Amino acid sequence: METGPDSLFVTLLFLLHSSHSESEKFEVLGPTDPIVVVAGDDIILPCYLKPNISAEDMTVDWLNLDFLDGRVYRYQNRKIIQDNQITSYTGRTSLFEEELWRGNTSLKLTRVQGTDEGLYKCFIKAKSWDHDLIIQVLVKAVGSKPVVSIEGHREGGMGLLCESEGWHPQPELVWLDSKGVHLSAGPPETHRDFKGFYTVKQHVIVQETDTNRFTCRVQQSLINEKMETEVHLPSELFDYTTPWKRTSIVLCCLGAITMIGFSLAICCIHNKKGNVDMI
Ligand SMILES: *[C@@H]1O[C@H](CO)[C@@H](O)[C@H](O)[C@H]1NC(C)=O
Ligand SMILES: *[C@@H]1O[C@H](CO)[C@@H](O)[C@H](O)[C@H]1NC(C)=O
Repeated sequence: METGPDSLFVTLLFLLHSSHSESEKFEVLGPTDPIVVVAGDDIILPCYLKPNISAEDMTVDWLNLDFLDGRVYRYQNRKIIQDNQITSYTGRTSLFEEELWRGNTSLKLTRVQGTDEGLYKCFIKAKSWDHDLIIQVLVKAVGSKPVVSIEGHREGGMGLLCESEGWHPQPELVWLDSKGVHLSAGPPETHRDFKGFYTVKQHVIVQETDTNRFTCRVQQSLINEKMETEVHLPSELFDYTTPWKRTSIVLCCLGAITMIGFSLAICCIHNKKGNVDMI
């Protein structure tokens, strides 16, 4: 065995060469099935190099393909690059930097929200080679129990409003009678907040039934979730005589005041005429 400086040089050269050719070709691997995540949780988006060479001197880019501009995360020149980060990801992303040396470029995303849903690209670039992986992330959020409010008499029935918030994906709202029959309701109103969660609401006008029970159901079949609230309206609410009586009384009063006014006016005119006669 030679142990001179020449052989050391050859060994070094060999090591350098092999590490260089290794860093030239790699695959980026990760899950092939979509990742389903519950809103509010922290998740890891797995991504790693095969062979498991170091990514410490590579550029690691995480992108959400739904956003045309900006990045979820960038690691380059052994530093985290904050420029051009999509604002909704600020303060919620990190790599496992202690894992980079063995080719683990998984992303940690905290407090998952609706806007995080989408296709993510894990893109790894070495000096003369790059490769990427696409991961689908689905965000699931079950909204609040629907809140039903009574809006009063409307077009010959009773107006009700149902509202539920915090859903993802966008849910469907239906109004049902006590037999589970769909009631025809007003147009559904949907609002998406800045975190990407949906609020739905819908007005309905119900007629008196033998039970006076009505249900508002908010459901999302993709995530197989539903929330519902049943209301029982006392039948007195449907009693139309009360407001009618009130209206009659008001009309009667108005009539009486008008009559008194008329009488007074006639009296005055009569008196004036009398005065004129007297002159
Ligand atoms: C790299 O992978 C090999 C086998 O694929 C394994 O034996 C080795 O422990 C891994 N190295 C690291 C640092 O994870
Ligand atoms: C990468 O690191 C994370 C955090 O330690 C770990 O959960 C994950 O299993 C690692 N992935 C691989 C492929 O080693």
